[in-house]
Amino acid sequence: MEKLVITGGVPLKGNVDISGAKNSVLAILAGTLLVNGECRIENIPDISDVSVILSMIECFGAKIGRPDKHTIVVDAKDITYAVPDYELVRRIRGSYYLIGALLSRFRKAEIAMPGGCNFGSRPIDQHIKGFTALGAAVDDSRGVIKATAENLTGVSVYLDKVSVGATINIMLAACKAEGVTVIENAAREPHIVDMANFLNAMGANIKGAGTNRVKIKGVTDMKGGTYQIIPDQIEAGTFMIAAAATGGDVLIRNVIPKHMESLTAKLIEAGAKVTELDDAIRVEGTGKLKATNVQTMPYPGFPTDLQPQMVALLTVAEGLSVMVEGVWDNRFQYTDELIRMGAKINAAGKMATIQSVPTLYGAPVKATDLRGGAAVVIAGLMAEGTTEVSNITLIDRGYEKFEEKLRALGAKIERVEE
Ligand code: EPZ
Repeated sequence: MEKLVITGGVPLKGNVDISGAKNSVLAILAGTLLVNGECRIENIPDISDVSVILSMIECFGAKIGRPDKHTIVVDAKDITYAVPDYELVRRIRGSYYLIGALLSRFRKAEIAMPGGCNFGSRPIDQHIKGFTALGAAVDDSRGVIKATAENLTGVSVYLDKVSVGATINIMLAACKAEGVTVIENAAREPHIVDMANFLNAMGANIKGAGTNRVKIKGVTDMKGGTYQIIPDQIEAGTFMIAAAATGGDVLIRNVIPKHMESLTAKLIEAGAKVTELDDAIRVEGTGKLKATNVQTMPYPGFPTDLQPQMVALLTVAEGLSVMVEGVWDNRFQYTDELIRMGAKINAAGKMATIQSVPTLYGAPVKATDLRGGAAVVIAGLMAEGTTEVSNITLIDRGYEKFEEKLRALGAKIERVEE
Protein backbone atom coordinates (compact mmCIF):
# COMPACT_ATOMS: atom_id res chain seq x y z
CA MET A 1 0.00 0.00 0.00
CA GLU A 2 1.15 3.57 -0.66
CA LYS A 3 0.85 6.71 1.44
CA LEU A 4 1.45 10.43 0.96
CA VAL A 5 4.02 12.15 3.23
CA ILE A 6 3.49 15.91 3.50
CA THR A 7 5.57 18.60 5.23
CA GLY A 8 3.22 21.52 5.72
CA GLY A 9 3.57 25.29 6.02
CA VAL A 10 4.57 25.99 2.41
CA PRO A 11 2.30 28.47 0.54
CA LEU A 12 1.39 27.02 -2.89
CA LYS A 13 2.63 29.16 -5.76
CA GLY A 14 2.55 28.80 -9.55
CA ASN A 15 0.27 27.39 -12.26
CA VAL A 16 -1.78 24.19 -12.29
CA ASP A 17 -3.69 22.68 -15.24
CA ILE A 18 -7.03 21.04 -14.48
CA SER A 19 -7.89 17.65 -16.05
CA GLY A 20 -11.16 16.46 -17.58
CA ALA A 21 -14.21 16.00 -15.33
CA LYS A 22 -14.47 12.64 -13.54
CA ASN A 23 -18.25 12.87 -13.14
CA SER A 24 -18.64 13.58 -16.86
CA VAL A 25 -16.30 10.91 -18.17
CA LEU A 26 -17.94 8.00 -16.30
CA ALA A 27 -21.35 8.86 -17.76
CA ILE A 28 -19.93 9.59 -21.22
CA LEU A 29 -18.00 6.30 -21.43
CA ALA A 30 -21.14 4.38 -20.43
CA GLY A 31 -22.99 6.39 -23.09
CA THR A 32 -20.68 5.10 -25.85
CA LEU A 33 -22.58 1.79 -25.61
CA LEU A 34 -25.58 3.58 -27.15
CA VAL A 35 -23.64 4.53 -30.24
CA ASN A 36 -23.63 2.39 -33.34
CA GLY A 37 -20.26 3.73 -34.42
CA GLU A 38 -16.98 5.17 -33.20
CA CYS A 39 -16.80 7.74 -30.36
CA ARG A 40 -13.55 9.71 -30.00
CA ILE A 41 -13.45 11.31 -26.54
CA GLU A 42 -10.75 13.85 -25.65
CA ASN A 43 -9.54 15.41 -22.37
CA ILE A 44 -10.08 12.15 -20.49
CA PRO A 45 -8.67 12.39 -16.92
CA ASP A 46 -6.04 9.74 -16.11
CA ILE A 47 -7.79 8.40 -12.95
CA SER A 48 -8.54 4.90 -11.70
CA ASP A 49 -12.35 5.18 -12.02
CA VAL A 50 -11.87 5.53 -15.81
CA SER A 51 -9.97 2.22 -15.94
CA VAL A 52 -12.82 0.54 -14.02
CA ILE A 53 -15.60 1.74 -16.35
CA LEU A 54 -13.46 0.83 -19.39
CA SER A 55 -13.11 -2.75 -18.07
CA MET A 56 -16.93 -2.90 -17.86
CA ILE A 57 -17.39 -1.58 -21.39
CA GLU A 58 -14.99 -4.23 -22.69
CA CYS A 59 -17.35 -6.91 -21.24
CA PHE A 60 -19.73 -6.12 -24.12
CA GLY A 61 -17.03 -6.50 -26.76
CA ALA A 62 -16.57 -2.79 -27.41
CA LYS A 63 -13.27 -2.05 -29.16
CA ILE A 64 -11.22 0.49 -27.18
CA GLY A 65 -8.27 2.49 -28.52
CA ARG A 66 -6.10 4.97 -26.60
CA PRO A 67 -4.31 7.18 -29.16
CA ASP A 68 -2.87 9.04 -26.14
CA LYS A 69 -3.26 9.07 -22.36
CA HIS A 70 -6.08 11.65 -22.50
CA THR A 71 -7.95 10.34 -25.57
CA ILE A 72 -10.12 7.22 -25.86
CA VAL A 73 -11.77 5.85 -29.00
CA VAL A 74 -14.67 3.44 -28.34
CA ASP A 75 -16.24 1.45 -31.17
CA ALA A 76 -19.48 -0.11 -29.91
CA LYS A 77 -20.80 -1.01 -33.38
CA ASP A 78 -20.72 -4.77 -32.83
CA ILE A 79 -21.24 -5.11 -29.09
CA THR A 80 -23.27 -7.99 -27.69
CA TYR A 81 -25.31 -8.19 -24.48
CA ALA A 82 -23.48 -9.29 -21.32
CA VAL A 83 -23.69 -9.13 -17.52
CA PRO A 84 -20.57 -7.36 -16.17
CA ASP A 85 -18.74 -8.88 -13.20
CA TYR A 86 -20.54 -8.19 -9.89
CA GLU A 87 -17.38 -7.22 -7.94
CA LEU A 88 -16.15 -4.97 -10.79
CA VAL A 89 -19.48 -3.11 -10.90
CA ARG A 90 -19.50 -2.58 -7.12
CA ARG A 91 -16.21 -0.70 -7.26
CA ILE A 92 -17.68 2.60 -8.47
CA ARG A 93 -20.92 4.55 -8.34
CA GLY A 94 -20.85 5.44 -12.03
CA SER A 95 -21.53 1.77 -12.93
CA TYR A 96 -25.24 2.49 -12.73
CA TYR A 97 -25.06 4.48 -15.98
CA LEU A 98 -24.72 1.12 -17.72
CA ILE A 99 -28.38 0.42 -16.88
CA GLY A 100 -29.72 3.35 -18.90
CA ALA A 101 -27.29 2.67 -21.74
CA LEU A 102 -28.04 -1.08 -21.95
CA LEU A 103 -31.81 -0.52 -21.70
CA SER A 104 -31.50 1.86 -24.62
CA ARG A 105 -29.32 -0.45 -26.71
CA PHE A 106 -30.64 -3.92 -25.81
CA ARG A 107 -33.90 -3.16 -23.98
CA LYS A 108 -32.46 -5.10 -21.02
CA ALA A 109 -29.79 -4.72 -18.31
CA GLU A 110 -28.50 -6.71 -15.34
CA ILE A 111 -26.16 -4.62 -13.20
CA ALA A 112 -25.06 -5.10 -9.56
CA MET A 113 -26.04 -2.35 -7.12
CA PRO A 114 -23.23 0.25 -7.51
CA GLY A 115 -20.60 1.06 -4.88
CA GLY A 116 -18.85 4.41 -4.45
CA CYS A 117 -18.16 6.62 -1.44
CA ASN A 118 -20.15 5.76 1.67
CA PHE A 119 -22.24 8.80 2.71
CA GLY A 120 -25.06 6.87 4.29
CA SER A 121 -27.85 5.49 2.15
CA ARG A 122 -27.49 6.13 -1.58
CA PRO A 123 -30.81 4.87 -3.03
CA ILE A 124 -31.48 4.72 -6.75
CA ASP A 125 -35.27 4.87 -6.54
CA GLN A 126 -35.41 7.92 -8.82
CA HIS A 127 -33.44 6.11 -11.51
CA ILE A 128 -35.91 3.21 -11.27
CA LYS A 129 -38.85 5.64 -11.30
CA GLY A 130 -37.58 6.98 -14.63
CA PHE A 131 -36.93 3.56 -16.20
CA THR A 132 -40.35 2.31 -15.10
CA ALA A 133 -42.09 5.42 -16.45
CA LEU A 134 -40.43 4.76 -19.83
CA GLY A 135 -41.96 1.26 -19.83
CA ALA A 136 -39.27 -0.95 -18.28
CA ALA A 137 -39.92 -3.62 -15.65
CA VAL A 138 -37.25 -3.30 -12.94
CA ASP A 139 -36.37 -5.79 -10.17
CA ASP A 140 -33.80 -4.51 -7.68
CA SER A 141 -33.82 -7.32 -5.13
CA ARG A 142 -30.78 -9.49 -4.27
CA GLY A 143 -28.21 -6.73 -4.85
CA VAL A 144 -28.69 -6.72 -8.62
CA ILE A 145 -30.80 -4.40 -10.77
CA LYS A 146 -32.56 -6.30 -13.56
CA ALA A 147 -34.41 -4.18 -16.11
CA THR A 148 -36.26 -5.29 -19.24
CA ALA A 149 -38.51 -3.41 -21.65
CA GLU A 150 -40.55 -4.46 -24.68
CA ASN A 151 -40.52 -0.82 -25.77
CA LEU A 152 -39.34 2.46 -24.28
CA THR A 153 -41.90 5.22 -24.80
CA GLY A 154 -41.32 8.91 -24.17
CA VAL A 155 -42.95 10.21 -20.98
CA SER A 156 -42.81 13.09 -18.50
CA VAL A 157 -40.90 12.15 -15.30
CA TYR A 158 -40.80 14.35 -12.20
CA LEU A 159 -37.78 13.69 -9.96
CA ASP A 160 -38.76 13.75 -6.27
CA LYS A 161 -35.10 14.54 -5.42
CA VAL A 162 -32.70 16.58 -7.54
CA SER A 163 -30.41 13.75 -8.63
CA VAL A 164 -27.37 13.95 -10.93
CA GLY A 165 -27.31 10.20 -11.49
CA ALA A 166 -31.04 9.83 -12.13
CA THR A 167 -31.08 12.78 -14.53
CA ILE A 168 -28.22 11.31 -16.59
CA ASN A 169 -29.54 7.74 -16.43
CA ILE A 170 -33.00 8.76 -17.66
CA MET A 171 -31.39 10.81 -20.46
CA LEU A 172 -29.50 7.66 -21.50
CA ALA A 173 -32.60 5.44 -21.42
CA ALA A 174 -34.69 8.03 -23.31
CA CYS A 175 -32.23 8.71 -26.17
CA LYS A 176 -33.74 6.03 -28.40
CA ALA A 177 -37.22 5.79 -26.86
CA GLU A 178 -40.28 6.35 -29.03
CA GLY A 179 -41.34 10.01 -28.78
CA VAL A 180 -40.41 12.74 -26.33
CA THR A 181 -39.31 12.36 -22.71
CA VAL A 182 -39.30 15.33 -20.33
CA ILE A 183 -37.38 15.22 -17.04
CA GLU A 184 -38.87 17.70 -14.56
CA ASN A 185 -36.89 18.88 -11.51
CA ALA A 186 -33.72 17.70 -13.27
CA ALA A 187 -30.26 18.29 -11.81
CA ARG A 188 -28.33 21.14 -13.47
CA GLU A 189 -24.65 20.26 -12.80
CA PRO A 190 -22.04 21.14 -15.47
CA HIS A 191 -21.44 17.42 -16.07
CA ILE A 192 -25.11 17.00 -16.99
CA VAL A 193 -24.74 19.63 -19.71
CA ASP A 194 -21.50 17.90 -20.75
CA MET A 195 -23.31 14.56 -21.03
CA ALA A 196 -26.16 16.03 -23.09
CA ASN A 197 -23.66 17.75 -25.40
CA PHE A 198 -21.78 14.45 -25.84
CA LEU A 199 -24.97 12.50 -26.64
CA ASN A 200 -26.08 15.21 -29.10
CA ALA A 201 -22.63 15.12 -30.75
CA MET A 202 -23.18 11.38 -31.27
CA GLY A 203 -26.63 11.91 -32.82
CA ALA A 204 -29.11 12.28 -29.94
CA ASN A 205 -31.67 15.11 -29.64
CA ILE A 206 -31.58 16.59 -26.11
CA LYS A 207 -32.59 20.12 -25.16
CA GLY A 208 -32.68 22.01 -21.86
CA ALA A 209 -29.75 20.31 -20.07
CA GLY A 210 -28.52 22.70 -17.38
CA THR A 211 -32.06 23.78 -16.59
CA ASN A 212 -34.48 21.88 -14.34
CA ARG A 213 -36.44 20.69 -17.42
CA VAL A 214 -34.63 18.43 -19.89
CA LYS A 215 -36.38 17.30 -23.10
CA ILE A 216 -35.14 14.21 -24.97
CA LYS A 217 -36.60 13.45 -28.42
CA GLY A 218 -35.96 9.77 -29.22
CA VAL A 219 -33.82 9.06 -32.30
CA THR A 220 -33.42 5.77 -34.16
CA ASP A 221 -29.67 5.78 -34.65
CA MET A 222 -26.57 7.40 -33.14
CA LYS A 223 -23.60 7.19 -35.49
CA GLY A 224 -20.73 8.48 -33.35
CA GLY A 225 -18.38 11.46 -33.51
CA THR A 226 -15.79 13.36 -31.49
CA TYR A 227 -16.23 15.08 -28.13
CA GLN A 228 -14.01 16.91 -25.63
CA ILE A 229 -14.82 16.61 -21.92
CA ILE A 230 -15.15 19.78 -19.80
CA PRO A 231 -12.60 20.61 -17.06
CA ASP A 232 -13.26 19.04 -13.67
CA GLN A 233 -15.15 21.58 -11.50
CA ILE A 234 -14.26 19.68 -8.32
CA GLU A 235 -10.55 19.28 -9.06
CA ALA A 236 -10.44 23.02 -9.87
CA GLY A 237 -12.22 23.83 -6.61
CA THR A 238 -9.86 21.60 -4.66
CA PHE A 239 -6.83 23.56 -5.92
CA MET A 240 -8.58 26.91 -5.36
CA ILE A 241 -9.20 25.96 -1.73
CA ALA A 242 -5.65 24.62 -1.28
CA ALA A 243 -4.23 27.92 -2.61
CA ALA A 244 -6.31 30.00 -0.19
CA ALA A 245 -5.75 27.62 2.74
CA THR A 246 -1.95 27.75 2.41
CA GLY A 247 -1.87 31.54 1.87
CA GLY A 248 -0.42 31.00 -1.59
CA ASP A 249 -0.80 32.49 -5.06
CA VAL A 250 -1.96 29.98 -7.68
CA LEU A 251 -3.26 30.31 -11.26
CA ILE A 252 -5.68 27.45 -11.86
CA ARG A 253 -5.79 26.98 -15.65
CA ASN A 254 -8.25 25.21 -17.98
CA VAL A 255 -11.33 25.97 -15.89
CA ILE A 256 -14.76 27.43 -16.66
CA PRO A 257 -15.06 30.28 -14.09
CA LYS A 258 -18.86 30.21 -14.24
CA HIS A 259 -18.81 26.65 -12.85
CA MET A 260 -16.84 27.90 -9.82
CA GLU A 261 -19.04 30.90 -8.90
CA SER A 262 -20.38 29.60 -5.57
CA LEU A 263 -16.89 28.65 -4.35
CA THR A 264 -15.39 31.91 -5.62
CA ALA A 265 -17.97 33.85 -3.59
CA LYS A 266 -17.24 31.83 -0.43
CA LEU A 267 -13.46 32.13 -0.74
CA ILE A 268 -13.78 35.93 -1.11
CA GLU A 269 -16.12 35.97 1.93
CA ALA A 270 -13.44 34.02 3.85
CA GLY A 271 -10.84 36.64 2.95
CA ALA A 272 -9.02 35.25 -0.10
CA LYS A 273 -8.46 37.25 -3.30
CA VAL A 274 -9.98 35.54 -6.37
CA THR A 275 -9.54 36.84 -9.93
CA GLU A 276 -11.57 35.34 -12.80
CA LEU A 277 -9.92 35.19 -16.24
CA ASP A 278 -11.29 33.69 -19.49
CA ASP A 279 -10.36 30.07 -18.80
CA ALA A 280 -8.45 30.40 -15.54
CA ILE A 281 -8.89 31.60 -11.97
CA ARG A 282 -6.18 33.15 -9.77
CA VAL A 283 -6.45 32.59 -6.02
CA GLU A 284 -4.25 34.52 -3.56
CA GLY A 285 -4.15 34.19 0.20
CA THR A 286 -4.25 37.59 1.92
CA GLY A 287 -3.14 36.73 5.48
CA LYS A 288 -5.75 35.64 8.01
CA LEU A 289 -8.84 33.78 6.78
CA LYS A 290 -12.22 34.61 8.33
CA ALA A 291 -14.91 32.18 9.51
CA THR A 292 -17.84 31.81 7.10
CA ASN A 293 -21.00 29.70 6.87
CA VAL A 294 -21.61 27.33 3.95
CA GLN A 295 -24.52 25.14 2.88
CA THR A 296 -24.03 22.56 0.10
CA MET A 297 -26.79 22.31 -2.49
CA PRO A 298 -27.34 20.98 -6.00
CA TYR A 299 -25.80 23.19 -8.71
CA PRO A 300 -25.57 26.20 -8.89
CA GLY A 301 -25.30 25.98 -5.09
CA PHE A 302 -22.05 25.20 -3.27
CA PRO A 303 -21.00 21.70 -4.45
CA THR A 304 -21.21 18.90 -1.88
CA ASP A 305 -18.02 17.48 -3.44
CA LEU A 306 -16.10 20.54 -2.19
CA GLN A 307 -17.56 20.37 1.33
CA PRO A 308 -14.69 18.41 2.98
CA GLN A 309 -12.00 20.54 1.33
CA MET A 310 -13.74 23.76 2.47
CA VAL A 311 -14.03 22.47 6.04
CA ALA A 312 -10.26 21.85 6.04
CA LEU A 313 -9.74 25.52 5.16
CA LEU A 314 -12.26 26.67 7.80
CA THR A 315 -10.37 24.88 10.61
CA VAL A 316 -8.03 27.90 10.82
CA ALA A 317 -10.43 30.60 9.55
CA GLU A 318 -10.74 32.97 12.51
CA GLY A 319 -14.04 32.52 14.42
CA LEU A 320 -16.86 29.97 14.32
CA SER A 321 -17.93 28.54 10.94
CA VAL A 322 -20.95 26.37 10.18
CA MET A 323 -21.06 23.83 7.34
CA VAL A 324 -24.47 22.38 6.43
CA GLU A 325 -24.40 19.30 4.14
CA GLY A 326 -27.56 19.72 2.09
CA VAL A 327 -27.16 16.71 -0.24
CA TRP A 328 -25.89 13.63 1.68
CA ASP A 329 -27.02 12.20 5.02
CA ASN A 330 -23.59 11.41 6.41
CA ARG A 331 -20.66 13.12 4.75
CA PHE A 332 -18.58 14.18 7.77
CA GLN A 333 -16.61 10.96 8.51
CA TYR A 334 -13.37 12.69 7.40
CA THR A 335 -13.68 15.26 10.26
CA ASP A 336 -12.34 12.66 12.73
CA GLU A 337 -9.08 12.76 10.76
CA LEU A 338 -8.93 16.58 10.89
CA ILE A 339 -9.55 16.43 14.66
CA ARG A 340 -6.42 14.21 14.94
CA MET A 341 -4.55 17.21 13.48
CA GLY A 342 -5.92 19.58 16.14
CA ALA A 343 -9.05 20.85 14.41
CA LYS A 344 -12.02 21.79 16.64
CA ILE A 345 -15.01 20.38 14.74
CA ASN A 346 -18.36 19.20 16.09
CA ALA A 347 -20.15 17.23 13.35
CA ALA A 348 -23.65 15.84 13.91
CA GLY A 349 -25.95 14.67 11.11
CA LYS A 350 -26.02 17.25 8.35
CA MET A 351 -24.27 20.05 10.25
CA ALA A 352 -20.71 20.66 11.44
CA THR A 353 -19.51 23.63 13.50
CA ILE A 354 -15.85 24.54 13.15
CA GLN A 355 -14.14 26.65 15.87
CA SER A 356 -10.89 28.04 14.44
CA VAL A 357 -7.51 27.08 15.89
CA PRO A 358 -4.24 29.00 15.35
CA THR A 359 -2.75 26.10 13.39
CA LEU A 360 -3.13 22.40 12.57
CA TYR A 361 -0.38 19.88 13.47
CA GLY A 362 0.83 17.07 11.22
CA ALA A 363 -0.30 13.54 12.18
CA PRO A 364 -0.86 10.09 10.63
CA VAL A 365 -4.36 10.23 9.04
CA LYS A 366 -6.31 8.38 6.36
CA ALA A 367 -8.54 9.11 3.42
CA THR A 368 -12.07 8.10 4.47
CA ASP A 369 -13.41 8.68 0.93
CA LEU A 370 -12.38 10.48 -2.25
CA ARG A 371 -13.03 14.10 -1.24
CA GLY A 372 -12.34 13.45 2.45
CA GLY A 373 -8.91 12.33 1.23
CA ALA A 374 -8.43 15.62 -0.61
CA ALA A 375 -9.42 17.43 2.60
CA VAL A 376 -6.76 15.76 4.74
CA VAL A 377 -4.13 16.45 2.07
CA ILE A 378 -5.06 20.16 2.18
CA ALA A 379 -4.89 20.00 5.99
CA GLY A 380 -1.42 18.43 5.72
CA LEU A 381 -0.29 21.26 3.42
CA MET A 382 -1.53 23.79 6.00
CA ALA A 383 -0.25 22.01 9.13
CA GLU A 384 2.96 22.48 11.10
CA GLY A 385 5.11 19.37 10.80
CA THR A 386 4.64 16.14 8.86
CA THR A 387 1.37 14.43 7.90
CA GLU A 388 1.14 10.89 6.54
CA VAL A 389 -2.02 10.09 4.56
CA SER A 390 -2.91 6.41 4.02
CA ASN A 391 -5.72 4.77 2.02
CA ILE A 392 -4.77 7.00 -0.92
CA THR A 393 -6.19 4.67 -3.58
CA LEU A 394 -9.44 6.48 -2.75
CA ILE A 395 -7.82 9.77 -3.82
CA ASP A 396 -6.49 8.21 -7.03
CA ARG A 397 -10.09 7.48 -8.03
CA GLY A 398 -10.74 11.14 -8.81
CA TYR A 399 -7.49 13.11 -9.00
CA GLU A 400 -4.96 12.78 -11.82
CA LYS A 401 -1.33 13.12 -10.59
CA PHE A 402 -2.52 14.88 -7.42
CA GLU A 403 0.82 14.97 -5.57
CA GLU A 404 2.74 15.78 -8.78
CA LYS A 405 0.52 18.81 -9.45
CA LEU A 406 0.89 19.92 -5.80
CA ARG A 407 4.69 19.42 -5.90
CA ALA A 408 4.84 21.61 -9.01
CA LEU A 409 3.25 24.33 -6.84
CA GLY A 410 6.02 24.01 -4.25
CA ALA A 411 4.33 21.57 -1.89
CA LYS A 412 6.59 19.17 0.04
CA ILE A 413 4.66 15.98 -0.73
CA GLU A 414 5.86 12.49 -1.67
CA ARG A 415 4.15 9.17 -2.45
CA VAL A 416 5.95 6.34 -0.60
CA GLU A 417 5.37 2.64 0.11
CA GLU A 418 3.64 2.11 3.51
C1 EPZ B 1 -23.08 12.23 -8.15
O1 EPZ B 1 -23.52 11.17 -7.31
C2 EPZ B 1 -21.58 12.30 -7.99
N1 EPZ B 1 -20.99 11.02 -8.40
C3 EPZ B 1 -21.21 12.59 -6.54
O2 EPZ B 1 -19.80 12.85 -6.54
C4 EPZ B 1 -21.90 13.87 -6.07
O3 EPZ B 1 -21.68 14.01 -4.69
C5 EPZ B 1 -23.40 13.81 -6.35
O4 EPZ B 1 -23.63 13.50 -7.74
C6 EPZ B 1 -24.09 15.14 -6.06
O5 EPZ B 1 -23.51 16.16 -6.84
C7 EPZ B 1 -20.88 10.75 -9.73
O6 EPZ B 1 -21.25 11.56 -10.57
C8 EPZ B 1 -20.26 9.44 -10.09
P1 EPZ B 1 -27.30 12.24 -6.70
P2 EPZ B 1 -25.05 10.64 -7.43
O7 EPZ B 1 -28.10 11.21 -7.37
O8 EPZ B 1 -25.50 10.75 -8.82
C9 EPZ B 1 -30.53 11.21 -3.34
C10 EPZ B 1 -17.55 12.58 -6.02
O9 EPZ B 1 -16.95 12.91 -4.99
N2 EPZ B 1 -31.04 10.25 -4.33
O10 EPZ B 1 -27.24 13.63 -7.25
O11 EPZ B 1 -25.10 9.33 -6.73
C11 EPZ B 1 -29.15 10.84 -2.83
O12 EPZ B 1 -29.24 9.93 -1.74
C12 EPZ B 1 -18.91 11.92 -5.91
O13 EPZ B 1 -17.15 12.79 -7.20
C13 EPZ B 1 -32.20 9.55 -4.03
O14 EPZ B 1 -32.80 9.70 -2.97
O15 EPZ B 1 -25.80 11.73 -6.53
C14 EPZ B 1 -28.60 12.18 -2.41
O16 EPZ B 1 -29.11 12.51 -1.13
C15 EPZ B 1 -19.29 11.63 -4.47
N3 EPZ B 1 -32.67 8.66 -4.94
C16 EPZ B 1 -29.19 13.14 -3.44
O17 EPZ B 1 -30.33 12.47 -4.00
C17 EPZ B 1 -32.04 8.45 -6.15
O18 EPZ B 1 -32.53 7.64 -6.95
C18 EPZ B 1 -28.25 13.49 -4.58
O19 EPZ B 1 -27.78 12.30 -5.15
C19 EPZ B 1 -30.86 9.17 -6.43
C20 EPZ B 1 -30.38 10.08 -5.50
